[in-house]
Amino acid sequence: MNKKIAVLAGDGIGPEITKEAINVLKKVADKFGHQFDFRQGLVGGVAIDQTKNPFPGETLKLCLDSDAILFGAIGDPKYDNDPTARIRPEQGLLAMRKELGLYANIRPVFVFKSLLDRSPLKKEIVDGVDFVVVRELISGIYFGERGRSNDNKSAFDTSEYSVDEIARIAKVGFEMAGKRRKKLTVVDKANVLETSRLWRETIQNMEKDYSDIEVEYMFVDNAAQQIIKNPTRFDVIVTENMFGDILTDEASVISGSLGMLPSASLGLKTSLFEPIHGSFPKAAGQNIANPTGIILSAAMLLEEAFEMVEEGAVIRNAVQKVLDDGFGTRDIATKKVMGTKEFGQKIVGAL
Ligand code: IPM
Ligand code: MG
Repeated sequence: MNKKIAVLAGDGIGPEITKEAINVLKKVADKFGHQFDFRQGLVGGVAIDQTKNPFPGETLKLCLDSDAILFGAIGDPKYDNDPTARIRPEQGLLAMRKELGLYANIRPVFVFKSLLDRSPLKKEIVDGVDFVVVRELISGIYFGERGRSNDNKSAFDTSEYSVDEIARIAKVGFEMAGKRRKKLTVVDKANVLETSRLWRETIQNMEKDYSDIEVEYMFVDNAAQQIIKNPTRFDVIVTENMFGDILTDEASVISGSLGMLPSASLGLKTSLFEPIHGSFPKAAGQNIANPTGIILSAAMLLEEAFEMVEEGAVIRNAVQKVLDDGFGTRDIATKKVMGTKEFGQKIVGAL
């Protein structure tokens, strides 16, 4: 197959981990007789530096003109420490999600057997963890009205959800559960928030269409606790934008390193694949960043966007093998610590 992949490496460690994912994809293309055409675009801090816009129109065009998007990371401390900065790299990510209609963020949470000891949680608790968080990505408090009072003495952010937006993401959750262990946990704060009550009502009305799925409703504070205490109890979690953001950072510690987990953002026009970690500016350019999250995101890209199921599995198996052999970047190595590049090459070699 011939496919066009937009590559947005972004900030911090973005460029170096993205390079390793591209090497993996090139090797897979060779092996299976595909042709992948990689085209780079600007987003985030680097895009501000070069164009004053964190998500330039040219990048939007590139994305819409591609079959899938591979994304590295976004964020630069020079903006984090300046709350008055008017243009911020994160605006690029949010604009990109919104303009591309990427409403469903799929974040699988799992452990590699060889890394069980790396998790800060007890082995018995994390062994066998395998769940997916389906996070709504283009609505809620991230995109609601916000502002300051005239005297600058107060500020507000609003969360808004429509029935259509809730039903659209819930459908993804139900269908995902249908392909897995048939259990859906809806996470909300319906004891306090009106938007959460609309989530419950909407999803309760959908239950009859998915009679084979067991549905439970859980408050977000309780879910935060259960993810640490009993994470194997979850199969598919569906939740709103901000709860999903927070719970997935929390859940990532289960896998032993924030650098491990991939994600897919599925949309109305295209789909984007990115690791769940940030730009890790302190590690940028030092050849120490863990590229596993983006390499596994590349596997999701092949499976979800191109229906290349075997190709995706080949990548996963190669990662598994290299980890089982004890190789890894310093956050995950059990026998031999390697640099980003060397670890990437090792995975390519195992393909
Ligand atoms: C994520 C990130 C982003 C988010 C930031 C960088 C805006 O934390 O993808 O989880 O909050 O969605
Ligand atoms: Mg986050």
